[in-house]
Amino acid sequence: MRAYCGATSSERIRKEQVEGMSENNAGDELAAATSEASLAASRQRSRDIEADLAVHPERWRVLTGDRPTGELHIGHYFGSLANRVRLQNLGVETWVLVADYQVITDRDGVGPIRERVYSAIANYLACGIDPERSTIFTHSAIPALNQLLLPFLSLVTDSELKRNPTVKAEHEATGGRPMSALLLTYPVHQAADILFCKAQLVPVGKDQLPHLEQARLIARRFDERYGRSVPEHPVFPQPEALLSVAMNILGTDGTKMSKSKGNTIELGMDADTTAKLIKKAVTDSDRHITYDPVHRPEVANLLLLAALCSGDDPVAIAERIGDGGGGALKALVTEAVNTFFAPIRQRRAELVADPGYLEQVLAAGNAKANAQAEATLDEVRTAMQMKY
Ligand code: TRP
Repeated sequence: MRAYCGATSSERIRKEQVEGMSENNAGDELAAATSEASLAASRQRSRDIEADLAVHPERWRVLTGDRPTGELHIGHYFGSLANRVRLQNLGVETWVLVADYQVITDRDGVGPIRERVYSAIANYLACGIDPERSTIFTHSAIPALNQLLLPFLSLVTDSELKRNPTVKAEHEATGGRPMSALLLTYPVHQAADILFCKAQLVPVGKDQLPHLEQARLIARRFDERYGRSVPEHPVFPQPEALLSVAMNILGTDGTKMSKSKGNTIELGMDADTTAKLIKKAVTDSDRHITYDPVHRPEVANLLLLAALCSGDDPVAIAERIGDGGGGALKALVTEAVNTFFAPIRQRRAELVADPGYLEQVLAAGNAKANAQAEATLDEVRTAMQMKY
């Protein structure tokens, strides 16, 4: 029975993959994930999920993660960390991955990986991730998660991966570096990150939607090809995107805040360094401060940052500054940022001073992730008739 089902479903997948070379293909499905119509649908779905999270948080499991290629900064805080803490505090089971194997997709070597991993963990805890309620873990410590990559790779084609818009963009950002096979296949690895713990929800920005679509395709294809012994029980749920309600903060030069551009204010920086960076921030020549994100993006960004830190309204802040100019604006932003992050930085400093505790938190998270990954891999082996 299983063999029969296996044959028909593999025919279907082969057909899907052959069609993948023609017009109506999965690569387009991935690209379509960022189309306007699809984006509107994803936004609506995210609003519906948010409504359910408030009522039934226990029904949902969330996976999020960061690539430890640098220090987490205040853009990460407002863009994702605060949202994770919010979800955790709603009662949603939250898994946080420090994606160490993903570091080596687009560079030579691992950099100061150990310091960065523990620094990320200190930041998570300082921001409010509670290791009793959330699971913090690293790729490299979870063999069974990584092993999922093997069967998953059988479910995608190279052309599908080459057309993934996010992979393309990330490859372009390397400035002509040959694409490593790991960069090409990392969406599949990321699917393993999501599916090993059967997360139904991944908070993402819209640039990550193609990855989520890839994970959904893999989940579906796995069950079609290997998992139909109990049709009503797919091995993997279809994970969904939770489009962030979170804010996009620009760097001090007015472009995307990014570790590689040196325009970030790191969570772990002290108040003086923060003040110096904000003093150097780009504004414009109009001394009259107004909140106008379209025409005055740099000024608007600083106002937004002050607003997020103070809980005030950016328009009201702008009106208060009035003709005070960039200097008054920057003084206000510095005060707001340093006041808001002071307790987080204080906790962070205490945590960094206790490396034994951070090691303990990671060891406990990795143990929990290993148990989960082994259970999932066991189901995968069962579905694939490879349990000996
Ligand atoms: N790619 C994410 C980043 O750059 C990190 C990450 C790895 C991730 N695996 C994931 C995010 C799975 C969501 C789901 O920060």
